[in-house]
Amino acid sequence: TGPILTLNNGVRMPSLGFGTFASQGSEGETHRAVVCALNAGYRHLDCAAFYQNEGEVGTGIKEFLAANPSVSRSDIFICTKVWNHLHQPEDVEYSLQQSLKLLQVDHVDAFLVHWPIASKRNKDYSPMIGADGKYVIDDELTQNPEPTWRAMESAYSRGLTRSIGVSNFTAADMTKVLSFAKVAPTMNQIEIHPFLPQDALIAFCIAHKIVPVAYSPLGSQDQVPGTGEKVSTNQELNRVAEAKGASLAQVLIAWGLKRGYVVLPKSSNPGRIESNVQLVQLTEEEFEAVNKVAKGRWTRFVNMKDTFGFDVWPEEA
Ligand code: A2P
Repeated sequence: TGPILTLNNGVRMPSLGFGTFASQGSEGETHRAVVCALNAGYRHLDCAAFYQNEGEVGTGIKEFLAANPSVSRSDIFICTKVWNHLHQPEDVEYSLQQSLKLLQVDHVDAFLVHWPIASKRNKDYSPMIGADGKYVIDDELTQNPEPTWRAMESAYSRGLTRSIGVSNFTAADMTKVLSFAKVAPTMNQIEIHPFLPQDALIAFCIAHKIVPVAYSPLGSQDQVPGTGEKVSTNQELNRVAEAKGASLAQVLIAWGLKRGYVVLPKSSNPGRIESNVQLVQLTEEEFEAVNKVAKGRWTRFVNMKDTFGFDVWPEEA
């Protein structure tokens, strides 16, 4: 499942992971997708409390391990994340404990702060939503995430997670965390695909020994506002795939791995789950052809503006 990368604390992480966000449709879908992914050879599962399907991920892992005694829990890298409304230190702990219970494990391999935004919660631990339908932001904790990070560090030092990291953080957000971190983030999970190559942020992460992790590496099937363009129907990209006799997804996964970061394709279709893990290698020419399409692009498909009430990434970060 791709090269194994070593995080800044020595923990090893497979560079191809299976994203579980897509498979949250009908009941049992995530369970089936996880079993299928593990059978296909994935050994890295990307999860989050926000995806509301960790219970099915847990039963999927359990079923797979029971049927495959030669594979143990420690062979599978499991990542999960704390959502915005649980950034208060004691809530970070609560969130992780909930995830561990649902995933049916005693620790995860990575625990991430899902967004650099803290919001308020209700007494029943649900996100507090304002009259405008948006999250009620906790300005203080958003401006100063040190208490949240201390709780992440505490979870790490107590062995509840083998590494801690962030997601959707800009260079400025990471600089802030690095300024007070006793345990530095090991990774930053961000949107990366040929329409959002993120050269600057990737370089920043690598310079600070933070592994970039790409979500939506296939371009998410979304359209570029205005032009209606899609990664999946881009002619140049499809030409590379056809000439190679590979799927476009395989080319995009190979492009990410060759650029040196972790790639998290997601699918709930068994055939595509299996073919995405069949890795291909790009020649320099093929690599350059994809780079050429990516050059100068900046289209984010994931934007939580409607949920948070503002854009976390106001400009090129
Ligand atoms: P499906 O679940 O039907 O396979 P991203 O990871 O960039 O967000 O993309 C996920 C989307 O890409 C999902 O809609 C998934 O749909 C689709 N997808 C995953 N693998 C492939 C593939 N090999 N070919 C085409 N589409 C794919």
